[in-house]
Amino acid sequence: MKLNSFIFNCPTRVMFAEHESASIASYAEDMGIIKPLLVSDRGLVENGVLEPVIESLSDSGIPYETFYEVPPDSDIDCVNKAAEFARDKECNSIIAVGGGSVLDTAKVVNLCLNQGSDLLANQGLNILHERLSPFIALPTTAGTGSEVSFVAAIKDRCEKRKLVFGSRFLAPDLAILDPTLLLSLPSKLTAATGMDALTHAIEALACSVTQSPLTEILSIEAMRLLFEHLQRATRNGDDIDARAGTLVASTMAGIAFTNSGVGIIHALAHATGALFKTHHGLTNAIFLPHGMRFNKEESCHVYARAARSLGYADRQNDDTACDILIGKVEELMESISIPPQLRTIGVPAMEGELLEHWSELVLEDPSIMFNPRYATTEDVIDIYERAY
Ligand SMILES: NC(=O)c1ccc[n+]([C@@H]2O[C@H](COP(=O)([O-])OP(=O)(O)OC[C@H]3O[C@@H](n4cnc5c(N)ncnc54)[C@H](O)[C@@H]3O)[C@@H](O)[C@H]2O)c1
Ligand SMILES: [Fe+2]
Repeated sequence: MKLNSFIFNCPTRVMFAEHESASIASYAEDMGIIKPLLVSDRGLVENGVLEPVIESLSDSGIPYETFYEVPPDSDIDCVNKAAEFARDKECNSIIAVGGGSVLDTAKVVNLCLNQGSDLLANQGLNILHERLSPFIALPTTAGTGSEVSFVAAIKDRCEKRKLVFGSRFLAPDLAILDPTLLLSLPSKLTAATGMDALTHAIEALACSVTQSPLTEILSIEAMRLLFEHLQRATRNGDDIDARAGTLVASTMAGIAFTNSGVGIIHALAHATGALFKTHHGLTNAIFLPHGMRFNKEESCHVYARAARSLGYADRQNDDTACDILIGKVEELMESISIPPQLRTIGVPAMEGELLEHWSELVLEDPSIMFNPRYATTEDVIDIYERAY
């Protein structure tokens, strides 16, 4: 088979170890960080998740400022407020501790500190041509891969849409993967964020022109880790080995999708989340088996190769091996209590103008351009009806 041409980037240094967040000050000193802005959210502070980071910074005498006001699915107002605060306090760097909402906010705050605060002018892909201020990310969910990805999505609440910012210079300089930071993540969020990571891995695997052997190996290993650990992490949040497995998988899937893209499943989830405020990971999960069945026509051989690498299939033909993989995804969803239907997560029965508007949003979503199979309005409506 002829290989695609490809570019592969991973500008982020990745450090994985239990309790490594307690050594943040030594990393900060190494990177010449003088006065960081520590970005997080109230829930994490109340759960004590930030304690090792705060203790390390305080013990080292590194002066820092704090901004803990990030809401889930953060927005333009929050970014502007944090950037103004950082400017006032003359912060020269960023340390972000949180899920995708916190990490994405921190990325765009870093952009504002270096490029000015006109977010609308700075949105889009390949928007930057130089490095930003030093930035350390410590993920507290295992899902988005934002600690290594080149993108950030911030809500424009007035327009009911997400502004997308993309550049390899947005990626953090250092990601510290400390699974102890995830111990307090509730079971439902563990399941939903883990399914976001699985969707990244599966969509990155089958992207049309951008997929490469490097992204494929990362995707398959991320899938292996998630099939092995996600159910355990969801059932017993204190299982540190399971937390570690899902966290490393999420970062691997993040490196894969940031290089090869996602596809129709993310396009469906983005449109649904924008209209009905459904959780990103949960919505991806419900669309995942339907999106895989839709893509099977183009990606059967890639899914089959993954099923064989993962040991789920052997000498069966590609068609059967592909179905086995889709079945494994559905089995995992059931085992972690992800509902199989959109109706159970607050998505209404759509018809007429609403369905038309939703399908336009799906087909306009930037993720869909990397999908292996071309989709029409009828196709996305058919997927919606199956998933509803
Ligand atoms: N940049 C990217 O590459 C990328 C990729 C996918 C999704 N996203 C974005 O990420 C966001 C979703 O992020 P998310 O799914 O990680 O959730 P989140 O960051 O919105 O967090 C959800 C909730 O979980 C809580 N939480 C997080 N970690 C916790 C912990 N360890 N213990 C207890 N509570 C904890 C938070 O306080 C919050 O209330 C969306 O805005 C989505 O658009 C970004
Ligand atoms: Fe995602």
